[in-house]
Amino acid sequence: MTATRLEGIGACVFDAYGTLFDVNAAAQHCAADLGDKWLPLAELWRGRQLQYTWLRSLMENYADFWQVTGEALDFAMEALDLNDSALRDRLMELYLQLDCYPEVGDVLRRLQDGGMKTAILSNGSPGMLQAAVDNAGIGGALDAVISADQIKIYKTAPAVYQLAVDQLDVAASRICFQSSNAWDAHAASNFGFRVVWVNRFAQARERLPGNPDVMLDSLETLPSIVGVAGS
Ligand code: LAC
Repeated sequence: MTATRLEGIGACVFDAYGTLFDVNAAAQHCAADLGDKWLPLAELWRGRQLQYTWLRSLMENYADFWQVTGEALDFAMEALDLNDSALRDRLMELYLQLDCYPEVGDVLRRLQDGGMKTAILSNGSPGMLQAAVDNAGIGGALDAVISADQIKIYKTAPAVYQLAVDQLDVAASRICFQSSNAWDAHAASNFGFRVVWVNRFAQARERLPGNPDVMLDSLETLPSIVGVAGS
């Protein structure tokens, strides 16, 4: 992970949850009701949500990300003794309006103004992604919003990363993929993308196939890394 400049990039593709949107925000906005359980709830919810996507993919029993997100929340609330259906509804509603990280809008616009194709590639279902994008006001700075739902299997399946190659018509080696999720960064690199691991939470490196090219702590410097003029 030494590169500071990636050459020949034609498209910047972004993971959604954790990378553009703050997945802890829903529980945090309910901190008044959840008290000191808000962070344990956020972490358990996110952890189960991801595990359920991988397990369902292995089981070949797909359900969309909205259903998986709800089932993961049900598990997390029961595990933490939170029995409150109104709160459950509110948390799910908030998941459609997650805060976006502060640098995101500006970075996407700088990339697009610099001639770079921009897209989201996410496990999120199309309705969830559209709601989050609209809420953050970043739709105009994205050329495509691509969902794994099209092929009913989740990342880390290579076929999901292939969707970006096919839909943007850019070779994998010319796609720079950004994810704050280390498992996703490794899988995307293993697939053949150039990868920026946005290590927002200073996590340890995963021991998985793939080798992200660059590690950043936010997306701020991405335009200069992919050689967008003026950055
Ligand atoms: C995404 C999640 C899983 O694909 O981070 O957006």
